[in-house]
Amino acid sequence: MQGQGAHTGDGEDQIVVRNVGALAGTVDVPGAKNSVLKLMAATILADGVHELSNVPNIVDVTIMGELLAAIGIESDLAESGRLTLVNRGELTPVAPYELVERIRASVNVLGPLLTRCGRVRLSMPGGDDFGARPIDLHVAGLEAMGAQFKFSHGELEATAERLHGAEISFEFPSVGATENLVTAAVLADGRTTIDNAAREPEVVDLCTYLVAMGAEIEGVGTSRLTVYGVPRDALRAASHETVPDRIQAATYLAALAVSGGELLVRDARPEHMANLLGRFSEMGLELTPVRGGLHAAAAGRMRSIDVQTLPYPGIATDYKPLVITMLSVADDVGIVTENLYPGRFRYVEELSRLGADIRTDGHHAVVRGVPRLSGAPVRAHDIRAGAAMVVAGLAAEGETVISGVRHIDRGYDDLVGRLRSVGAAIERVSSDSSS
Ligand code: EPU
Repeated sequence: MQGQGAHTGDGEDQIVVRNVGALAGTVDVPGAKNSVLKLMAATILADGVHELSNVPNIVDVTIMGELLAAIGIESDLAESGRLTLVNRGELTPVAPYELVERIRASVNVLGPLLTRCGRVRLSMPGGDDFGARPIDLHVAGLEAMGAQFKFSHGELEATAERLHGAEISFEFPSVGATENLVTAAVLADGRTTIDNAAREPEVVDLCTYLVAMGAEIEGVGTSRLTVYGVPRDALRAASHETVPDRIQAATYLAALAVSGGELLVRDARPEHMANLLGRFSEMGLELTPVRGGLHAAAAGRMRSIDVQTLPYPGIATDYKPLVITMLSVADDVGIVTENLYPGRFRYVEELSRLGADIRTDGHHAVVRGVPRLSGAPVRAHDIRAGAAMVVAGLAAEGETVISGVRHIDRGYDDLVGRLRSVGAAIERVSSDSSS
């Protein structure tokens, strides 16, 4: 895929941040990584020229483009954020290890390839560095629809002449499993119901796109999805605008909370982050939904709150590193409970290097706010932790130098440029220019 030149993530660049006080201006929110990657995978279902707009220029989009190219779908990302994907109907249902191991969302090709081609070979997916991320729910759901699986040498092989409808009930509303089963059910024989389905805005975005392609889905946005399978020739290529990224929107709000000032977060969708915004208001952010986005103002130090992560519409686990960073400079003590990924506290060590007072115990973190952090070299271990390091740098006296920037590049479209444009002292330096 030809992109507009996102950094390739060679691991050399660093981000340097300083606190210079209040932010002011307008920052726009690009399309959501966790939507666009699934939209791209869904193009496997229908032949023709698909067009996705509001596509972020991030490394994960490039990797998904390469994975689709290996499968037989060519793509091209224009500077306008319009991604064209061409499915000529000649697909190789094999997802190679070198690409799959780089992004978790590669597992999203499983459902569409299986239902479209009747077989798939997929390396077990990789992704972030925060503990085991099994795919048992994906596999059990597809088995209920008639698929047969074999696992050997780190690879899974699935076959099904034609999938059939099934009644599936999840123990846990997995985002990825919901997406895989919905896309698989689109071309299955008969009716599939999914109970306790994930309801994230990105799942809704995928369903909306599938419907535009000709799929028949009821209950979109609820925890019970019903999919009526259609014949292959009922599906056609479609155009779709990617939903704005609520996690990136939250990142700019967190940056504002620790810096002070006023921002218009353009294209933020307050209705997709209602619980989080409620909690941010309790902390002291003044938030006003406006036409086309969200106005936010921060005056003075934030107040601490207790937070727990939950599936949507609860507070997403992906917000948590941002919330912990905000709490680390808030007034008083906050307790954060992680209910999705037990191992997702690794960045706390990095925040401690900056002077944060955080104690973790199992699923909990106790954060005692300090008036200010103190700049130091830190490392980003995953996308969201990386964004939290940037926010922490804005809250720190002196210079914070962040390495592991390739993780941030996976999911953030020009985080540095966007923060600079609203007055932050932040720059990206390559190892060449810093030596
Ligand atoms: N789980 C299972 N079995 C499964 C599937 C999931 O036990 O078959 C467990 C996971 O181990 C985890 C929990 O269920 O403990 C949540 O997993 P889910 O399937 O909901 O998450 P996902 O689809 O793997 C997506 C996002 C994550 C985000 C989670 C939760 C993408 C590509 N990833 O992952 O985003 O944290 O939903 O909201 O959409 C990120 O963007 O940085 C990121 C990690």
